[in-house]
Amino acid sequence: MTTNEIRQKFLDFFQEKGHTIIPSASVVPENDPTVLFTTAGMHPLVPYLQGQPHPGGKSLADAQKCVRTDDIEEVGDSRHLTFFEMLGNWSLGDYFKRESIAWSFEFLTDKKWLGIDPSKIYVTVFEGDADAPQDEESIGIWQGLFEVVGVIANVGERIRVYPKKKNWWGPAGQTGPCGPDTEIFYDTGKTHDPAFGDVCHQNCDCGKFVEIWNNVFMQYEKQADGTFTSLAQKNVDTGMGLERVAAMMQGVDTIFETDAFTPALEKISILSGKTYAGNERAFRIIADHVRAATCIIGDARGVVPSNVGQGYIVRRLLRRAIREGRRLGILEPFTYLIAEVYVGELSGHYTELAQNLAKIIEELKKEEEKFGKTLEKGMKELEKMVSRGMITGEDAFFLFSSYGFPLELSEEILREKGQSIDRSVFQAEFKKHQDLSRSASAGSFKGGMADHSVETTRLHTATHLLHQALRTILGDHVAQKGSNITAERLRFDFSHAQKMTPEEIMKVEELVNSAIKRDLSIKCEQLTVDEAKTRGAIGLFEDKYAKLGDKVNVYSVGDFSREICGGPHVEHTGELGSFKIQKEEAVSAGVRRIKATVTG
Ligand code: ALA
Repeated sequence: MTTNEIRQKFLDFFQEKGHTIIPSASVVPENDPTVLFTTAGMHPLVPYLQGQPHPGGKSLADAQKCVRTDDIEEVGDSRHLTFFEMLGNWSLGDYFKRESIAWSFEFLTDKKWLGIDPSKIYVTVFEGDADAPQDEESIGIWQGLFEVVGVIANVGERIRVYPKKKNWWGPAGQTGPCGPDTEIFYDTGKTHDPAFGDVCHQNCDCGKFVEIWNNVFMQYEKQADGTFTSLAQKNVDTGMGLERVAAMMQGVDTIFETDAFTPALEKISILSGKTYAGNERAFRIIADHVRAATCIIGDARGVVPSNVGQGYIVRRLLRRAIREGRRLGILEPFTYLIAEVYVGELSGHYTELAQNLAKIIEELKKEEEKFGKTLEKGMKELEKMVSRGMITGEDAFFLFSSYGFPLELSEEILREKGQSIDRSVFQAEFKKHQDLSRSASAGSFKGGMADHSVETTRLHTATHLLHQALRTILGDHVAQKGSNITAERLRFDFSHAQKMTPEEIMKVEELVNSAIKRDLSIKCEQLTVDEAKTRGAIGLFEDKYAKLGDKVNVYSVGDFSREICGGPHVEHTGELGSFKIQKEEAVSAGVRRIKATVTG
């Protein structure tokens, strides 16, 4: 069964069950400046999950284009992707657990649909805690379904219970709809790897069990005081990873061996003259990153490579892919040729990709030429170095950090000249540099910053002071709605209904400047979202739908502010100089924007 067929079957199935099939929303979120990309099928549906009527009715299904770049460095292994498709069905106050679970089971096991052997299916449910009881109802429904097909389903084996960290979905630390979920796993038939523990279980990381579908039952509303009350509208939000289901249906070990990727891998092989076997990492990085870039550029709200926001991510994805291509020996622009393969496969469902093909090709070629020039400069520099004598690990690192010149490429060229590079020196330099810039790059990824020069870092710390000062002066309803920093100024969007008065502006400035004068020190801690919330951290907007147990970075500025954030920040507020609000204006109903500078 091909990936395209699985997607179509899913939509047909839910249409038969009375769902309206809606198109994928844009992968670049609309009306939501707080996240860069759509990360789950439910993301564009939040207003409807909160009660706003949807034009498609109360039962919906779709295939949603999603991008998650938190794990970009992990791509290259057997399972990480930055772009993926999430199949989902929703009940907006219509059906609930019984129908949802029964339909998932029917779609997976019925011969008319996926026809998976039910004895390969394992599930998990919420075990209960002080906020909400164990999800007995879901356990009962699962047991009934397994019984009908003659599969023994004991609790603690085929059905296991887990705490919130695994079986709860909702706005971490925030107010909003949330609830327990039941996750469906597929038994790959592999034997358990004891390196991961004595007993294998659904959430064991050994690779035997693969999660394929998550059914969330949004029956609670998290209140500002941290308590959970019953939600008037009981919703269902499900998410099934299409690529994983394809791997399961096609009986292959990794998502990269499914038909969603093999045509692209073949193309890379033809272009490079190398085989996938033995070069898996490079092939996978190219295959994933070009697919993601193609879908982001080719979106109805497409973004092109640049140095800010989403554009910066597209640039980073492409440059990583191009480097791997060079390493494989592809010296001409090639990413657009891979993009054509994907557009051919995906545009049957995502028609915008075919419509935007010319733009995709043009942007990929442009970016590759630009980056190619940088690499060429690096090559010249390398030749100069060679003519001066032996190349050291430091030299290779210089080429890497200044020209984006991969170590492997330097090594390859030098090998032809009978030279080698001391990798340990390169690695040591790399590590030194990484420690210096780790928080910086996290910041430019997550915080919408143009780069991480000294100026932007100072403005970033100033943004935290401003955020807290606004809450102190205007009230706790102030929440960050967006942030953008260039070397010249900060821009901060926040919730507040009225124009600020000149007195309020002055008071906010004074408060920020007094915090600067106190020369407060800045400290970073890793806390779970819950701990962060308990300790009064603000700025939870970034990963609204992170799981509750996930660790986050929390930056404290003395006793003045505490905020969840990716950094980077200065060490002492004294480094900021003098803070000045340059402009205060409206962005949309209930959202104001401040532009401010620091000098000195
Ligand atoms: N929103 C749920 C998820 O993304 C279905 O896992």
